[in-house]
Amino acid sequence: MGNQGDQTGWRDRNHALWDERVDIHAVSASYNIDGFLKGDDVLMDFEPGEIGDVTGKRLVHLQCHMGQETLTWLRRGASRVVGLDFSESAIGRARELAAELGFSSTEAAFTVADLYDAPNALPETEFDVVYVSMGSINWLPDIGRWARIVADLLIPGGILYLNEFHPVTHVLDEATGTRFVHDYITSQAMVREAPGTYTDSDRSAPTVHNTAIEWIHSLGDVLSALAVAGLRLEFLHEHDRTVFRHFANFERGADGWWGPPPGQPRIPLLYSLKASKPLNLSTGITCGSSLY
Ligand SMILES: C[S@@+](CC[C@H](N)C(=O)[O-])C[C@H]1O[C@@H](n2cnc3c(N)ncnc32)[C@H](O)[C@@H]1O
Repeated sequence: MGNQGDQTGWRDRNHALWDERVDIHAVSASYNIDGFLKGDDVLMDFEPGEIGDVTGKRLVHLQCHMGQETLTWLRRGASRVVGLDFSESAIGRARELAAELGFSSTEAAFTVADLYDAPNALPETEFDVVYVSMGSINWLPDIGRWARIVADLLIPGGILYLNEFHPVTHVLDEATGTRFVHDYITSQAMVREAPGTYTDSDRSAPTVHNTAIEWIHSLGDVLSALAVAGLRLEFLHEHDRTVFRHFANFERGADGWWGPPPGQPRIPLLYSLKASKPLNLSTGITCGSSLY
């Protein structure tokens, strides 16, 4: 079965979908904004250790949604965080959260822009860390262009930390996640009708903008795009647990994470990677690109 669909107007249609869902997410148990304001840490347990010490670092969070992860890095010692998202509603919420937490505009800034406009839209373009988290790159058609933007936003020695849903999770059957039902290797958009949102277990929230246009970026494509952009892979970890009931028969473990029921093969559900920008780009060791 192919993934093909009409990707015309993908940006506007995805923007409408995301913008409409922010108010639903803002009052949801999943995003638990009250808990966040009281100090809850929204990162996954492995993220702080993998990213390393962010004390004093300047961090940009691409596709930051309502900014909770962004602001958590500030709480964890970053000197400045900048979040970018194309949803005005999401960025509005992020700015409110930053203000409620008492952060100044020197410490936290949020920009409304399409990811591909980031170099022109962000208040500055030199960061120690680019952070991207779950459910982001699947909304972008051109992973090579994304990787070049990431590389350009990093200072030499800076790092990208990406914690993303594993691409195989986008192509397996919804009931059990054991059968391939879409193409894994494809450049075609995956177009689907997705009423409601993931913060409702039964996706019953009333929504009108429901067309989701996404792309499957295989691990090979992501790693190759980063290499071509001049970044060096530090690690790639695949995780067999995830943050929600990704497939209908998944069960929640005692640790609060979700995975297949006992006896069902364990598959990669998330991956996390760190890639660094070489200090001396003139050596060209990792350069396959004319950019550097
Ligand atoms: C699932 S969230 C990822 C952030 C975080 N992991 C979370 O769940 O809060 C995906 C975000 O990507 C944003 N987004 C999607 N396509 C985008 C684009 N082309 N440019 C900028 N932001 C985009 C959406 O508005 C949404 O806030």
